[in-house]
Amino acid sequence: MNHFYNRSLITIDSVLKEDMLLLFEKAEEMKRITENKGGDERLKGKILAALFYEPSSRTFSSFITSMQRLGGGFIPLNGMANTSAAKGETIEDTAKVFSIYTDIISIRHPEVGIPARFAQNSSVPVINAGDGKGEHPTQALLDIYTISRHFPSFAELTVGMVGDLLNGRTVHSLTKALLKMGVKSFIFISPNALKMPQMIIEEIEEMHGKYIENTEFQKNIPDMDIIYMTRVQKERFTDLSEYERYKLAYILDSEMMDYVEKKAVIMHPLPRVGEINPAIDSDPRALYIREEMRNGLYVRMALLDLILLK
Ligand code: NCD
Repeated sequence: MNHFYNRSLITIDSVLKEDMLLLFEKAEEMKRITENKGGDERLKGKILAALFYEPSSRTFSSFITSMQRLGGGFIPLNGMANTSAAKGETIEDTAKVFSIYTDIISIRHPEVGIPARFAQNSSVPVINAGDGKGEHPTQALLDIYTISRHFPSFAELTVGMVGDLLNGRTVHSLTKALLKMGVKSFIFISPNALKMPQMIIEEIEEMHGKYIENTEFQKNIPDMDIIYMTRVQKERFTDLSEYERYKLAYILDSEMMDYVEKKAVIMHPLPRVGEINPAIDSDPRALYIREEMRNGLYVRMALLDLILLK
């Protein structure tokens, strides 16, 4: 059953394992049609508004191209400076406005909870494209899809997450999604000041999941099947000297790659700002440029299809 149909996607909490499997099947179809003929016309007559109150390259562009490849139209607002938001229009009103013109809305905002509030006032489905240090459910879905193409089962996987686990929204959604997929264990590597939020840790404990938290990267690398690197989220720091202190706490470079298992993979939601040395981009274990981004397109195409078509 398609639980995505006509529903908003605000948090990964609302997505079941079976929903992810359905989505991934659809993503395979999207991959096939994109590779064979660039797309099709199934969303002809449907319109997406992409309302991004925060910078974005990949998420924004992949929502737009997903709609375009399926024959739909779009209102692309990458930055809201030239909209009525700059005149002081409330989120509630903006939601009412754009839901009149469109069939679906993706929204990114620096404040946690805004996409949820927006959805309450929208008459069309809303997709959270990232809310502050809250969640980024579509990134989690494309990451789980990417992992599922590389490993036959989640049950044997130890997933390492490295960097700013406090402020990085991708790792919040991804951890919850991995729990649903029944992953074996987590290794969280971060400075003490940037640890995974207690709320997420409690969810792991409630599900009887295994995890360790550590500040040391190298010695834990050999135990990781997935090394999920993240950027220290500069925009969430009020004290920039603190950001400077942590920004390059963990760097994956060619020497560190010697400790990475042959069958392990390296992932990163991107952008990177120094935490992965470009010298390792050509390593077959590095998926962030070769696969993750492309999969973001297929997964978002699949999501638009499942939300908009019965
Ligand atoms: C991430 C985000 O916006 O949370 N980027 C993305 O969507 N791929 C990660 C980040 O900005 O660090």
